[in-house]
Amino acid sequence: MTISQLPIWQQLQSQAEAMKGRSLRDLFTGDPGRAAHFSLELPEFLLDFSKNLLDRDVFVNLLRLAEDGELPRWRDDFFAGQPINATEGRPVLHPALRGALPRDVEFNDQSVMAAVECELGRLKKLVVLLHNGDLTGYSGKRITDVVNLGVGGSHLGPQMAIEALRAHRKGDVAVHFVSNVDGAQLTDVLVGLDAESTLFIVSSKTFTTSETMTNARSALRWLEQASGLEAAELLKQQFVAVTASPERAQAFGVAPERVFRFWDWVGGRFSLWSAIGLPIAIACGFENFRALLDGAASMDRHFREAELERNAPVIMALLSTWYCTFMGYPAQAILPYEQALHMLPAYLQQADMESNGKSTTRAGAEVDYATGPLIWGQTGINGQHAFYQYLHQSPEIVPADFIGSVAPGHDLQGHHEILLANMLAQSQALMNGVSAEEVGRELAAKGLGEAEIKRLTPFKVHRGGKPSNTILLKELSPRSLGALVALYEHKIFVQGVILQIFSFDQWGVELGKGLAAGLEPKLVQGDLAAEDASTAQLIEYYRRVTAGAATPAEMPEAMTADAAQAM
Ligand code: F6P
Repeated sequence: MTISQLPIWQQLQSQAEAMKGRSLRDLFTGDPGRAAHFSLELPEFLLDFSKNLLDRDVFVNLLRLAEDGELPRWRDDFFAGQPINATEGRPVLHPALRGALPRDVEFNDQSVMAAVECELGRLKKLVVLLHNGDLTGYSGKRITDVVNLGVGGSHLGPQMAIEALRAHRKGDVAVHFVSNVDGAQLTDVLVGLDAESTLFIVSSKTFTTSETMTNARSALRWLEQASGLEAAELLKQQFVAVTASPERAQAFGVAPERVFRFWDWVGGRFSLWSAIGLPIAIACGFENFRALLDGAASMDRHFREAELERNAPVIMALLSTWYCTFMGYPAQAILPYEQALHMLPAYLQQADMESNGKSTTRAGAEVDYATGPLIWGQTGINGQHAFYQYLHQSPEIVPADFIGSVAPGHDLQGHHEILLANMLAQSQALMNGVSAEEVGRELAAKGLGEAEIKRLTPFKVHRGGKPSNTILLKELSPRSLGALVALYEHKIFVQGVILQIFSFDQWGVELGKGLAAGLEPKLVQGDLAAEDASTAQLIEYYRRVTAGAATPAEMPEAMTADAAQAM
């Protein structure tokens, strides 16, 4: 039976309609124990979810939805290494990367735990070599800079974590990232680097991603030009690969001992805990990388063991489902009040949207309900001066996650209190709003006349009732970051289970990749008759401009649309 046919689904639908007429202020007034009831303290943080549009009855029914959707069984299957990524026929075992499986699992006759530990040991050796200055480039100079070439899951996690752990850097090797095939990014990074002391990490699960491989080939050419040496030699000395396809990395020319592997059972967007996290270990030290894994493992244990009503990822997933699927609020804002977490929204955007942006149920049918959220956001303070106007006064409701930490990540006096006060004020303002009466009183107190008050009041009213979670970390450390990221990972999994979709494949990104490969040669030449008129026109414009012709009349015959049609 599909989840939307269950009686609990209908009940939640009715409750959602009723909830739209209720105010968050009244929910607090009517339930004095609400803040304590709807919050959860874990070793690393306090999760306050009391500023959400739900009451205890809704919460109970959401928990029943999770039970009726067989969440406990799916969770057991996940940790037992069952092939829950059914469309790709494999298990999903990123918790194994942080040593958090209740029991070892075999994959292709190999112990998963043993494979993970072996690879971590190899990573550690490389990091120690780099930090000790024992890794050298072609001229014998020590490696001082590392450039990670990778995109999506092979980029966002490592860079997000390094930014987040800025207060925990170790060693003096600088780490840079190039993800875009737009050569401007690689050019900008290489400008500041010395070819003799730069190491490239080609990070790609498949080792076929065209953007990454193009950047890798350009980086190699840069080394060849600077050194005058053969590509084969440079690849062996100044390239490292991180991949689930070691054969392809070796065929590319990377030395076998410099190929670090992860496995098919790690999804790209869940791979920062694997060798993909090598840049994190280089920038922050291997011990901090371990602490990151340990923090995530503590969240794995919590997710596995805590009862559903005290289970942070389950609660976050139920709230997200409540808003997206039942209340009709499709977007969710991630608002870190911590500069170091400035890449978290982008990271979670991939993790959540690539996982739950789906419309086919596990049974292969079209869903008849809304699925996962549109994730967006940026650091809170900058957002306040940009898009918070929309959050406060547009007719749309965008549930938000506020994330801050008690301890500042710097020594400057007076900053952190302002930052946290702003975070608290924003969630309060979104919740309470300002009524017409309150606006009237405020304007009267300022001495405005009745007519002016009447004229201005509608513009100053904030309807309020805008829900949010607040995650208040004790401090932003490798451990708490690990727990925070794993919290969201499991939230995504739980939401997918409830929505009866497969969260661990990403067929939706394949279509565009294939089309791009077909269109690339057509930018130069070829028949455009099979293309839609818009795409053909854009390509023709591109050809015309690159040929130096200003107008269609100046175009060579072979390049006009008519000529193309005639071919
Ligand atoms: O964007 C699609 C995707 O397949 C992501 O899932 C993945 O993280 C990214 O491309 C990079 O893939 P790879 O690591 O194989 O280069």
